[in-house]
Amino acid sequence: MTQASPTLSIQHVAVAFNDGPPVIEDLSLDVAEGEFVAIVGPSGCGKSTLLKVISGLLPARAGQIHVAGPAANGPKPRIGFMFQRDTLLPWASVASNIAVGCELSGLPKEKHAGRIAELIALVRLQGYENHYPGALSGGMRQRVSLARLLAYDPDIFLMDEPFGALDYQTKILMGRELLRIWEASRRSIIFVTHDIEEAVALADRVIVMSTRPGRIVAIHQSLFKRPRDPRSLRGDPRFGALVQTIWSELAVAD
Ligand SMILES: Nc1ncnc2c1ncn2[C@@H]1O[C@H](COP(=O)(O)OP(=O)(O)O)[C@@H](O)[C@H]1O
Ligand SMILES: [Mg+2]
Repeated sequence: MTQASPTLSIQHVAVAFNDGPPVIEDLSLDVAEGEFVAIVGPSGCGKSTLLKVISGLLPARAGQIHVAGPAANGPKPRIGFMFQRDTLLPWASVASNIAVGCELSGLPKEKHAGRIAELIALVRLQGYENHYPGALSGGMRQRVSLARLLAYDPDIFLMDEPFGALDYQTKILMGRELLRIWEASRRSIIFVTHDIEEAVALADRVIVMSTRPGRIVAIHQSLFKRPRDPRSLRGDPRFGALVQTIWSELAVAD
């Protein structure tokens, strides 16, 4: 990958709610264009809060966040969010939910149907276009959420434990699907998880956070080449070693 200027630059960010103690303290992180960054940390350390601050949903008390678009003077960069629980419209079909993303992206109306069909194929939901979210499994609903996110076409994907509510097997399959899609389109992703193995399997870099107030205690550059199959990676001794290292860093951070 060519070394581009960071898509996202977080400089000395601190966050607190009202007059409370800091939730995040002096956190700095650059994310390169097309980089897949995972953040792991104990529950309550400020992972979700950090994503909200990046997206502009929450103000930072100190520090700066800079998000750059693909072109220096081009349109404002887009930030897309995906949560653990899907936020699909229950009264709209799979196709209509994905259409919301097309709408927000500004794609001309006449191109929506084609794009929706493409995305449905990409997330392997052919035949479910007219189903409602209530009739789908958790994994399928997250595929629809992912398709909607892709339809919005953000420059940065913020993913907050997107597969955290799924059973183990579905979670691994979804990770593999996400990599397949990401390897074809290479957008910047910040993927928050409390699952160390998931982080190591998916990311280019794994960021380890301390307990509240959240700080970065370690950064690991991935040793694994792409394209990857997260399932077979798990049998690699280096995989287990890195997972163990991160476990011990979290134990120290606790
Ligand atoms: N709206 C809020 N008001 C006050 N405190 C909050 C609010 N949201 C989160 N917190 C606190 O901030 C800390 C970090 O929360 P969060 O970012 O959700 O953690 P994580 O996602 O890492 O589990 C927690 O101690 C939580 O109680
Ligand atoms: Mg959270």
